[in-house]
Amino acid sequence: MEDSQDKFPAEDQNRRDFLKLTAASVGVVGVCAAAWPFINSMNPAADVLAVASVEIDISKLQPGQSLTTMWRGKPIFIKHRTPEEIQVAQKISSIDPQTDQERFGKNPEWLVVIGICTHLGCVPTERKNMAPSEGGWLCACHGSHYDTSGRVVQGPAPRNLDVPAYEFLNNNTVLKIG
Ligand code: FES
Repeated sequence: MEDSQDKFPAEDQNRRDFLKLTAASVGVVGVCAAAWPFINSMNPAADVLAVASVEIDISKLQPGQSLTTMWRGKPIFIKHRTPEEIQVAQKISSIDPQTDQERFGKNPEWLVVIGICTHLGCVPTERKNMAPSEGGWLCACHGSHYDTSGRVVQGPAPRNLDVPAYEFLNNNTVLKIG
């Protein structure tokens, strides 16, 4: 039986190969063009990039007061600690050993932690109006207790509350997180 390619002159064969190659190339370009919006959507949106860091005015926060702000979609607890709270935080031993100095040594008056329980991700609530040794934060989901340094003193949480990257600006009146 005669090979179908032998029916056509070499010139026709070359033209057909060229057309096949061109069609395949157009197909690849089409797939890439269709996929681009999807791939591009994986990049951080402009508004997300815009909050890569936040600056918080802490000048009005008196000793003993705290506030919660958001950074990259996470709650951040900021507390202006009293001398008693700092003193107690320097004595308490936690499940996840870390000294208060290691966490907030650069300016112990200020506690800055990511307010997400390290057990299963609930948001703990501050235990206000308590003696410093009983204060800190309680995660109501399963009863984890974090002290006035944000360290876990009662599980099931396995780790202390995370400390984000932060720095003080403008003579310590503005806190920049991130
Ligand atoms: S999520 Fe906080 S104790 Fe379980």
